[in-house]
Amino acid sequence: MSDEFSPPTSEWYYPANGVVENAHVKDYKAIYKESMDDLEAFWAKRAETLDWYEPWDTVLDDSNAPFFKWFSGGKTNVTLNALDRHVKTWRRNKIAMIWEGEPGDKVSLSYWRLWQEVNKFGNVLRSMGVKKGDTVTIYMGRIPELAIAMLACAKIGAVHSVVYGGFSDQALADRIEDAQSRVLVTADGAWLRGNIVHLKDVVDEAVHRSPVVETIIVVRRTGHDIRMEQGRDYWYHDLMNLPIASPICETEVMDAEDPLFILYTSGTTGKPKGVLHTQGGYQVYISTTLEWVFDIKDEDRWWCAADPGWITGHSYIVYAPLILGATGFMYEGAPNFPYPNRWWKMIEEYGITILYTAPTAIRGLMRFGDAWPKRHNLSSLRLLGTVGEPINPEAWRWYHTVIGKEQCPIMDTWWQTETGGFMITPVPSFGLKPGSATRPFPGIDADIVDEDGNTVPPGEDGFLVIKRPWPGMLRTVYGDPERYKEQYWSKYQKQGWYLAGDSARFDDDNYIWVIGRIDDVLKVSGYRLGTAEVESGLVSHPAVAESAVIGIPDEVKGNVIYAYCILVAGAEPSEDLKDELKNHVRHEVGPIAVPAKIEFVETLPKTRSGKIMRRVLKARAQGLPEGDLSTLER
Ligand code: PRX
Repeated sequence: MSDEFSPPTSEWYYPANGVVENAHVKDYKAIYKESMDDLEAFWAKRAETLDWYEPWDTVLDDSNAPFFKWFSGGKTNVTLNALDRHVKTWRRNKIAMIWEGEPGDKVSLSYWRLWQEVNKFGNVLRSMGVKKGDTVTIYMGRIPELAIAMLACAKIGAVHSVVYGGFSDQALADRIEDAQSRVLVTADGAWLRGNIVHLKDVVDEAVHRSPVVETIIVVRRTGHDIRMEQGRDYWYHDLMNLPIASPICETEVMDAEDPLFILYTSGTTGKPKGVLHTQGGYQVYISTTLEWVFDIKDEDRWWCAADPGWITGHSYIVYAPLILGATGFMYEGAPNFPYPNRWWKMIEEYGITILYTAPTAIRGLMRFGDAWPKRHNLSSLRLLGTVGEPINPEAWRWYHTVIGKEQCPIMDTWWQTETGGFMITPVPSFGLKPGSATRPFPGIDADIVDEDGNTVPPGEDGFLVIKRPWPGMLRTVYGDPERYKEQYWSKYQKQGWYLAGDSARFDDDNYIWVIGRIDDVLKVSGYRLGTAEVESGLVSHPAVAESAVIGIPDEVKGNVIYAYCILVAGAEPSEDLKDELKNHVRHEVGPIAVPAKIEFVETLPKTRSGKIMRRVLKARAQGLPEGDLSTLER
């Protein structure tokens, strides 16, 4: 550790020997300063590490803020860097992706093989009429074909919209409708905890609700019987065997600012936001952040244990590791199947060197005790990481001692679907404090400010803002530029700052501690959910007149959903009705949105303007004092 930060005032961990000496970033302070002194020069230098068909004219075009453009005029394609360039080098025979299915089946794909599969599927999609700019919805479990489908879309210039496999038919239908996808790629099912998740059934129902889909391509994964509709549904493997699926597929030359993908995420309203990322800046940002934060080297075996259906998987399972020519690992199923040592067993077996996961997964595995990880040789690990929510110190320490054997720094990365990549994060040379995401990544001008935009003093809560654009930022909300402006740029419009939607504070060492959301967004097992989505799921049941949903703390999941419901006249409150409502939410939104507890009430506390006072409900649910009720509607 260099002398970047003053001595600790709290618990403080220094990197083990060898970590700093060999790391990509040795002098964070100097690099950070350089980036702030000349932001454009800094990012231009990073962009030069990638291949471009044609160079850019302007690094940052802010003439139409907040619709920023990066590397305008530049021509590229993310697959040029993730695949095409590697197959021309020694890396063609390097393993790009190792995969293990929950039942124990295994696949390894070299760069050459992955490139071919992507080319073949790109040709299949083209033959199905998918053109540059078209959207393709992907709804699958964690299997290599998911990455292949994403990369194939990117390669032919189509925009993918991956919908997490845990969403229900209604949620999927809404996302298909919003993206207007005519082609959908899915699987018959997925393995989870030894059971089949019936993905194709959900797809059939969703397409029934949103008939814009004309073609469904189905990967055979679980092999159980499913309904295939003639003329609409095709088996992936059949198509990949046709002569049209040639292993040579021309990569579409894209503008840096052409869209790469839409990823729906939750906001304050019931309608999910289609966060749009583009081809050029995104590549530069995610490859730089992964290389520097997780210090990726050719000999590493990188495991990001997220789902590719979330931004973490997009950026750090699929795109960034491939751009860096790394070897990534992906696992299909549950961490504790068939036993709670599954993850540790795979780390040992594959020699995983870097593990990146979420606090909820750590807490979930910690529950089973130390004996499970201790049965395995985890000495291959050299770095660890977390993302998704603040990590509680107890889980941090367990991760550090029992998994990392006190040798592996933990990179607590704060970022969002909207930011594309890590924003507030250590690099391996940092001194660490459990629970703090530490400092902004180079090129990120972050601050914590009060209502008026003044930097708050250490120890005080404020709004986390980003004061200057960065290449990985979202470009808009798909089809709703007003929402983009309103949501992220209106609070500090005068200053032109990005509002992250999180509260945070500095400590005396200038480290940043992210506290949580300032809006009605919940984090349940690290998944982001809008209270409004769950509420609209509940009120779509005929017995529910009104509902209010809050998150209450949970030891493993971070938060669980607590739902208050007012029933319509004539509906009888009962335990059966609670179960029925839970099932209804499972069906309407998805299993992740199912309330842990439902309470029937006669009224809900509201302000005079009719806004539900969640603060009061939260206190009530936890048996805490309800605080100031002076603004309550009487
Ligand atoms: O509240 C912050 C929390 O997750 C939100 C973003 O969620 P999502 O878009 O689903 O992206 C998650 C994966 C990047 C943030 O607004 N969050 C994410 N990482 C952290 C975090 N909170 C504290 N510490 C983190 N490391």
